[in-house]
Amino acid sequence: MSTSETPVRVGVVGLGHWGPNLARNFAAISGCELAWLCDGSEEVRQRWAPTFPGARMSADIQQLLDDPQLDAVILATPVPTHATLAVTVLRAGKHCFVEKPLAQTVVDAQRAIDAAEDAGKLLMVGHLLEYHPAVVSLKQIVASGELGTPYYLYGNRLNLGVLRSDENALWSLGAHDVSVVLALLDEEPVECFARGESYVRPGVEDVVFCYMRFASGAAAHLHLSWLDPHKERRLTIVGSRRMATFDDMALEGKVTVYDKGFDEDVRSWGEYLARSGDIRSPQIANTEPLRLECEHFVDCIRTGTAPRSDGRSGLRVVRVLEALQLSLHAAAPTGPRP
Ligand SMILES: NC(=O)c1ccc[n+]([C@@H]2O[C@H](COP(=O)([O-])OP(=O)(O)OC[C@H]3O[C@@H](n4cnc5c(N)ncnc54)[C@H](O)[C@@H]3O)[C@@H](O)[C@H]2O)c1
Repeated sequence: MSTSETPVRVGVVGLGHWGPNLARNFAAISGCELAWLCDGSEEVRQRWAPTFPGARMSADIQQLLDDPQLDAVILATPVPTHATLAVTVLRAGKHCFVEKPLAQTVVDAQRAIDAAEDAGKLLMVGHLLEYHPAVVSLKQIVASGELGTPYYLYGNRLNLGVLRSDENALWSLGAHDVSVVLALLDEEPVECFARGESYVRPGVEDVVFCYMRFASGAAAHLHLSWLDPHKERRLTIVGSRRMATFDDMALEGKVTVYDKGFDEDVRSWGEYLARSGDIRSPQIANTEPLRLECEHFVDCIRTGTAPRSDGRSGLRVVRVLEALQLSLHAAAPTGPRP
């Protein structure tokens, strides 16, 4: 168990595409020790051992769980393993950081939450964008009322790759946008609708279009694809007074607020005039979101506070993804009449 003098000791499980980024960040945080690395593949372990000479390497997560000095386990394994591994980690009395999404079903997400509560340990989900300084800024802008009432949002998360076989574009890419939409609107949708197509691998959607409606009247649309010529990571939010964008590919002006909209013409009843006023881009700290996310987890362990993206917030995202997934495979809507 760590105190303010002893380091928080963590182990990273899963060293594929993403796990090494988590390992790099936890290893660099002052007051945190990357004590273990774990991957089932011998080749992967050999690849990463030289980069992290201070960490012990294992093929079996049980070795990490048996270490009484280890405070927390970071799971960067494939999505189908998340819930079961998180429950195992928490039942072993370790705090758990699990990559997004928390689980593939609401039932499994709840299992992980229950395990955290029973063990009295922290459960944090790696909803990276909630730690992105641009999203934090956008959330402050929305909460301040500067945009007025949020009308609708749309997100484009497009790229060529990574092509996955164990999850579709909805779960792989949409987990990011759903977490941001829920964080910005601070409410869950009452209607979810999705359509998608599998072109490369049968049964695994490469492109998914999602539509969500909220009780407040807000609506959100997501275009998610790993089969696209463009690399886009963009979100637009249109409010009753102003509009704003978050463009994660932009080097400058990641967040832009547009004083645009329609004003009622006071001289004539029922007429509206387009308003195109100032455009401003707040300064956004150039700090790696992943570093902020990892630091937050270590801080939460030290202070015993609930993480921003805790199990309950991860469950909200899974609830929406599950509803979108069900809709994706529901009966097809009818086409135009001949
Ligand atoms: N936050 C982000 O921006 C972001 C980006 C990419 C991936 N991810 C998430 O990271 C997770 C991993 O994705 P990836 O692309 O690195 O996957 P990957 O398939 O490249 O790597 C997974 C690794 O886990 C290992 N593994 C699987 N089961 C294991 C077990 N029981 N014990 C030990 N090792 C095990 C595999 O050998 C493999 O090396 C996913 O949940 C994904 O959604 C997040």
